[in-house]
Amino acid sequence: MNIQPNVSLLALNTLAVPSRAQYLAQVESLDELKEAAAFASQSNLEMKVLGGGSNVVLPEYVSGLVLRYMSTEYQVINEDDEHVVLRVGAGFNWHDLVMKTLSEGFFGLQNLAFIPGLVGAAPVQNIGAYGVEVKEFIQTVHGVIFEDGEVFALKNEECHFDYRESIFKHELNNRALITAVDFRLNKQPNINVDYAPLDKMAQERGVPSPLELAHWVIDVRSSKLPIPSELPNAGSFFKNPIINESVFADLIKRYPSMPHYHQSVGVKVPAGWLIDQMGFKGKTFGPVSVHKKQALVLVNKGGTGKDVLAASEQIKLAVYNQYGIELEQEPRVFT
Ligand code: EPU
Repeated sequence: MNIQPNVSLLALNTLAVPSRAQYLAQVESLDELKEAAAFASQSNLEMKVLGGGSNVVLPEYVSGLVLRYMSTEYQVINEDDEHVVLRVGAGFNWHDLVMKTLSEGFFGLQNLAFIPGLVGAAPVQNIGAYGVEVKEFIQTVHGVIFEDGEVFALKNEECHFDYRESIFKHELNNRALITAVDFRLNKQPNINVDYAPLDKMAQERGVPSPLELAHWVIDVRSSKLPIPSELPNAGSFFKNPIINESVFADLIKRYPSMPHYHQSVGVKVPAGWLIDQMGFKGKTFGPVSVHKKQALVLVNKGGTGKDVLAASEQIKLAVYNQYGIELEQEPRVFT
């Protein structure tokens, strides 16, 4: 294991903001993690976890020890005629996992193809796209609590998953490192084309195989979402707000064409639509701009984390003034 001082994190965050870590350690096993933790404790350094860097806004200087848990273990730990349970290391690339499971005849993750990032980050924000959330396939999340080095294995229901939410953003925020995730996948193809554009494609082309569906998702994503290596971004920058019925009733009178999705409590409206309606697609805020094809995505052209957050604040304010809705930021702000 290698602990390096004063390391640039520019290439380790998809917004490509300039940032330096006081120390960076890339570890691949629990033993290496223990060594890194011992170093942090001796040097009185706070430990901070970075995954694929695709859902974070970094400051120019990150004090303490930045940890990346890079294990790419992949093993079948249980199976029967209908299901398989896979244990996958936190450092496994998410999209590679989706394609590998499909090639092995393990189904379920196809709607989540082409999402950037690593497996360890997937439970943190309960990644979701095209009608599927990863919580549907997570059996257990394994990790370590920083304070006492205690190893945990949280069952699905203990992770408190919700839309872009989990215990890892709340009680365990900055306190835990995820080492591996157990996924329970199907051996029979399970096709979910509830998301309108996929449903339209299925009507035109017939019901897809899981692998075909993954390729449809890759095509839809590529047509709207910028590739970070070309246009640095962190995917959706805001969560889709869930508003209460009375706020919704007022808004739909003012904006009859507003897309909306009724939830068990309240109504979800697309933040991208709200921002788009204000004419913000392509609008620039210094080095940061709203993506031309998807208003929910901020693209960074050489700005710092502060520039990105300043743009976000201006957009939040404009949305609040226009609709009375407070947007919540999606990427995690590192301190
Ligand atoms: N819309 C606009 N203009 C825009 C963006 C969206 O009018 O600029 C409208 C669309 O026409 C559509 C609605 O808003 O009627 C929803 O748009 P879309 O289906 O593109 O999805 P989204 O709500 O913008 C969410 C996720 C994405 C995920 C897609 C597909 C969040 C915060 N974002 O976006 O996730 O890929 O659905 O399921 O929930 C991510 O988290 O990084 C991400 C990309």
